[in-house]
This record gives sequence, structure tokens and C-alpha cells, in this order.
Amino acid sequence: MTDKIPLLIDTDPGVDDALALLLAFDDDAHDVVGLTIAAGNVGLHHTVANALKLCEVAGRPDVPVFAGSPSPLLHAAPDAAYVHGNDGFGDIGYAPASRGVEAEHAALAILRLSHVHAGRLVLVALGPLTNVALALKLDPTLPSRVARFVAMSGAVTGHGNITPSAEFNAYFDPEAAKIVFDAFPLFDLADWEATVAHGLPHDAVLGWMQAGGGIGRFYEAISRKTREWSADRRGDDWHSADALAMAWVLEPGGALEIAERPIDVVLEQGPARGATIVDWNRQLGRSDNVRILMRYDTGRFHARVRNVLAR
Ligand code: RIB
Ligand code: CA
Repeated sequence: MTDKIPLLIDTDPGVDDALALLLAFDDDAHDVVGLTIAAGNVGLHHTVANALKLCEVAGRPDVPVFAGSPSPLLHAAPDAAYVHGNDGFGDIGYAPASRGVEAEHAALAILRLSHVHAGRLVLVALGPLTNVALALKLDPTLPSRVARFVAMSGAVTGHGNITPSAEFNAYFDPEAAKIVFDAFPLFDLADWEATVAHGLPHDAVLGWMQAGGGIGRFYEAISRKTREWSADRRGDDWHSADALAMAWVLEPGGALEIAERPIDVVLEQGPARGATIVDWNRQLGRSDNVRILMRYDTGRFHARVRNVLAR
């Protein structure tokens, strides 16, 4: 048995997911025991292919990749191809990975690996929560075997990105988010607003990639489209939601401020669907079920990103 912390990542790659995965692969204290793939940024066919390709580029063909649900639990939702490219990796036309996806469904892999690593597993969700919700419906005892659950999701004061009030991962499958948020007694949340508060300077990122080798060059290519899209709309910083969440996963001590509160999700169709409602004044009498990342050490965050893009 390794002393490394077992890390299981549910993800919808996606350019920022790719950076988060590179950070995870680069950390000596953690062992990535699998990637379970969600639909979200783009369709499942692409997110699976992107995960397999990224493992190949990172020299990690040993990491098993499990395909999950091709759609949200109940209602269809728009993807984020306008941000990440139609294929989710900047439409660079990369040669597909030589390896294929595992036969086991993502939800079943989450449950199986939670038993293999019971009590030590760190489960990270970087995309819509459909697969994690399915796993919970199959086996509601899942949280008892998970040492820490971290989700990149939501907008804790209602400043969304996909709608005025909702963040993409929560909006893509709000029913799944509610199932998951209600199932874990206390989980960690890195939301969109934390992402915006912890941007990566475009110029610095470009310099880090240009100083890099194969990984830096690959990441410069797949991220070019989304970085150009972002520079036109979001100013001097580039925002990598999943990378910030992963930095907190890998280095919890980098968190400078955390807020514990009750959180819920709006399901009703309409302008607030997918909004993540935090009871900041605890008016509803519910117990705190989320630890919200409010401030992270940007020096530590940037150092991790710089190191991995310089590879
Ligand atoms: O809102 C940002 C989140 O939605 C990130 O996880 C991004 O990859 C998309 O999935
Ligand atoms: Ca994602």
C-alpha cells in the first residue's frame, strides 16, 4: 500500500480541467487512482477523448479513465463549447490517444474505488455532478468512505458565469448538485467567485508555457482559444476554476479564509435555476454542510501552475 493520498477525479475536460489534472499528476503526495468522466463543457465523447489524451501527454497512461453519464439527470442543458472549443480542447485536431476507456461505468468505478480506498479517498468533482449523484443513488453510504469531497461548483453570492445567478457545473445538472450537496455532511466548495478572485495573469501564463517542454506546448495549444476568448471579455487575468480547486485539494494549507455555512441549490425552471443559495445568516436553521473557499494563497497557486506548465 502506498502512503500517497488516493485521489479520484470526476471531470469534464475542458481546458481548465486539463490544468487541474496536470497539477494532480505533478503532486508527489497524491496518487490519482482514476478519472471518471462527465459530460458538461462538451459532450461525453469529447470529454472522454480529452481525458485519455491528457493522460498520454502527461505520461500517465496507467490512470484508468471511466466514462459516465452522457447527459444530466433530468433536463438537457447547454454545453460550454463557446469557451473551450467544439471538442473541449481548443479544436487543435490532436491525434487521439492510443489507449481506450475502461468498460466500467464511472458511477460504479466511484463506488468500487471508495471501497478499495475506504476512509482515505479524496473525491474531487470538477464538472457537473451527474456521476457522483448516480453513485449516491446506487449507494447512499458513499460519503462514509470518502475522507474529503471537494467540488468546483456554484456561485456563493449569486454572481454566476453561465447565467446571471448560476455557475456552469451547478447549472448543467442542478438536480445532481442537490443530491450531492444534501448527501455529504460537510464538503469543500471552490466556487466561481473564488475563481474570479484568484486569476492567473495572461502574460505570466504565456511565459510559463513558452518556457515549457511537451506539456507546456500542448497546453498552450489547447488553451489558446479559451485564453483569447477570456482576454477579450475578462481583462488581464485568466480564470482557471478547476486549477484553483485542485490547488486547494493538493495543498489545503494554502487556504487563507474558509466559511462554513448551509448551502442549497435552486431547481425550479427560470432565471434562478442552478443558483447555489448560501444561508449566510443561518436564517433557516439548517446545519452547515459546506466549507467555502474564500481566500487562497495566490503565491502557492501560481507556483504550482508555473511548475507544471514548465514541464
Ligand atoms: O464554471 C466553471 C466550471 O465549469 C469549470 O469546471 C469548467 O471546466 C466548467 O466545467
Ligand atoms: Ca470542469
